[in-house]
Order: sequence, then structure tokens, then C-alpha cells
Amino acid sequence: MGKNLKVAVYPGSFDPLTNGHIDIIDRGCKIFDKVIIAVLHNPSKKALFSVEERVTMIKETFNHTDSIEVDSFGGLLVDYAEMRGAIALLRGMRAISDFENEFQMALMNRSLSREVQTVFLMTGLRWIFTSSSIIKEAAQFGGDISGMVSNPVMLKLEEKFETLKKR
Ligand code: PNS
Repeated sequence: MGKNLKVAVYPGSFDPLTNGHIDIIDRGCKIFDKVIIAVLHNPSKKALFSVEERVTMIKETFNHTDSIEVDSFGGLLVDYAEMRGAIALLRGMRAISDFENEFQMALMNRSLSREVQTVFLMTGLRWIFTSSSIIKEAAQFGGDISGMVSNPVMLKLEEKFETLKKR
């Protein structure tokens, strides 16, 4: 990565990626030269999709966009960000309810590293109520979530709940 390129890490569980996340990534790309979408490896949190499945869905969604990279990480976020030469951690804010947790994480990350700044971006109004967990719940019971996720994610959600049903 060249010295002058401004890189941001956009971390999360992305279980799965939603249009709300995509909105934040699009906005991030307008500010930074490169956005690295970093999927957290967290063995203690039960996820619907494996990290590999999540990374693949995100890659399929963005299909070789130059300014976007998809990766996964474990351990401390700030260590990963420093290792990647990032100057910022990108987080999306929906409503006031997100604030407390985000504020706490940002302050913790600041005390762990002075090298990276947390940058909060507001999601578009239409994604204020979108979350991975509510989308999973709707999809599980056959709800139409086509306007809330990308096509690759929708297909994978359908496939996942089909196989889970057959078990
Ligand atoms: O999508 P999420 O679940 O809200 O993302 C949370 C995430 C991945 C940003 C957070 O859990 C994280 O950064 N985990 C890595 C461990 C870490 O660095 N913890 C200390 C700072 S809170």
C-alpha cells in the first residue's frame, strides 16, 4: 500500500452483510482510497454463516471493486488495523441505541492505539431498521428480504434455511 493512500478498516460480524452495511461501505469509499471489510473470527459467538461463507458473499457482492478489499481477522481490531496500515476504523450508526456500545468500543480502541481514529458514518434513512439479526429471523420464516440484502446474500440465506429445514 503506497504511503499516501488513506485506508480504512470496516470491521464487523457481517452475519450476513446487509444493504445497511453496503450503504456505509459506499460512503466510506467516498472518503478513503481503500476500505478493507474485515470479518471478525469469533469462535465464542454463534454465527449462522462460517467466516469463509461470509467473506465469499461479500466478495461476490462487490465483485472486484478496486477500492474494496475483503479479509478476516482475529484478535484485537487495532492490531489488525495497524498491521494493514489503516488510519481509520469505520463504523455505521443507525440510531441512538447504537451509540452507547459504539462509544465504548471507540474509547477502548483509542486507549489501545493512538494510530487509528474511529470514524462514524450515518446510514441512509431507509436502512435505520435493518440489521443482520432481524433479516435472518425474517428469512428463516420465509419472509421476503430481497430489498434488504444483495443477491448473493439472498441466495445464500435461502440455501442455508433450506438445508437447515431438511435436517
Ligand atoms: O458487527 P459487530 O458484531 O457489531 O462488530 C463488532 C466488532 C467486530 C467491531 C468488535 O467486536 C471487535 O472489534 N472485535 C475485535 C476484538 C477487539 O478488538 N476488542 C476490543 C475493542 S471493542
